[in-house]
Amino acid sequence: MTVPLPVDELAVLRVRRSAKWRTYPPDVLPLTIAEMDFALAEPITEVLREAVSRSDTGYAMPAPELGEAVAMFAQARWGWPVEPDSVTGVTDVSTGCVQLLRACCRPGEAVVISPPVYPPFFDWAAEAGARLIEAPLRQDGSGIWRLDLDALRDAFGARPAAYILCSPHNPVGRVHDRDELEVVAQLAHEYGVRVISDEIHAPLVLEGAAFTPFLTVPGAADIAVSLTSASKAWNLAGLKCAAIVTGSPAMRAFAGQLPPDGRWRIGHFGVLAMAGRAAGHARDTPPPARQPDRRADTGYPLAAAAGHLPCLARLPAHRTRRAAVREVPQPRPGRAGTGTPLRPTR
Ligand SMILES: Cc1ncc(COP(=O)(O)O)c(C=O)c1O
Repeated sequence: MTVPLPVDELAVLRVRRSAKWRTYPPDVLPLTIAEMDFALAEPITEVLREAVSRSDTGYAMPAPELGEAVAMFAQARWGWPVEPDSVTGVTDVSTGCVQLLRACCRPGEAVVISPPVYPPFFDWAAEAGARLIEAPLRQDGSGIWRLDLDALRDAFGARPAAYILCSPHNPVGRVHDRDELEVVAQLAHEYGVRVISDEIHAPLVLEGAAFTPFLTVPGAADIAVSLTSASKAWNLAGLKCAAIVTGSPAMRAFAGQLPPDGRWRIGHFGVLAMAGRAAGHARDTPPPARQPDRRADTGYPLAAAAGHLPCLARLPAHRTRRAAVREVPQPRPGRAGTGTPLRPTR
C-alpha cells in the first residue's frame, strides 16, 4: 500500500546534507534522528531568505526578539502568559539542560530521570558530573505509560538536586495529565528538588490532547524552569537556538547563573527563525490556538512508516505526534546488510 505524504521524494530528501541523511548508508531509512521531512514553514523561509540576501549572518542578538517570540507563541498556543524578559536564550535544549544541571548540582549530587526516556538525558547528567537516580515510567492497566509518582517520591526522598521532566515524554509519546504534573510539583516542593522541564515536543500534541506547560501548575514556577525550542516541530535543530523560561524571581536567579558567554553561542538564524515562527503563528492561527499546526506535522511520516514497514512496530503514541518506533527482530535478508545498529540517536 502506498501512503502519499506531502514531502519530497526520498531521492530528493537524500540530497540534504544534515546528519539524518549522512549518518547511515543509502540502504538505511534514517528514522532514528528526529529531523523533519516536510519543507520549512513559509514564515521561517521568508525570514531566513531575507537575512541571507542582506548578508545578515553575524552573531545572534537574542534580546528582545527571542523573549517576545517565545511569549507570543506560548500565549497563542497554550494560553500560557510568559514575561519576555523571563526568557534566557541558550544554544539548544541539550546545552541548556547541562548548564542548568551544572548550576544546581554539586559534584556527586544526584539527578532523577524517568526511563525509558530520550537517551541523552543519561549523558547530560554525566556531563554535569551528577549521579543518576532512575524513577522509571510505569504502564497502567490500559498499557498507557505514566509517570510513576510513587517511584518519584522514593527517588526524591534521596534528596537529589534536580529532576529532568520530559513533557511530553519522548519516547512513549505521553502528554502528562495536569493532575500528574501537580503531584510532581508538590513532591518537588516537599523534597526541595529543582525541576527542569524539557518541553521541546510540546507543539506536537495530537488533536484532543492538552499539553500543560509545567510552569502553569500551582507552585511549579517557584521550583522549575522550562526548556523550549522550535527545533523539533519546525526542523530548526541546525540553527541552534532554544530558550529557558522562568516564572519566579528564584528561578530567574537560577537561570542567571548560566555562563554569560553562552549568549554568544546562540545561532543568529535560530533567533530569527523563532521570531518568524511566532509571527507566522500569530498571523495564521486565531488565539486561543490549541489546534496542531499542520506545518509542523513531523510525526506523521514516522507513524505512517511504522504502520507500513514490516520491520517496524508502532508503540501506542499517547497524544503526541512523536510516535515511538521500535525495531522488530526480522529474519536477515539474504543480501549483505549494512550492519549499522539502529538505535535512537537524536
Ligand atoms: C526530549 C528531547 N529533548 C531534547 C532534544 C534535543 O534538543 P536540542 O537539539 O535542542 O538539543 C531532543 C531531540 O530529539 C528530544 O527528543
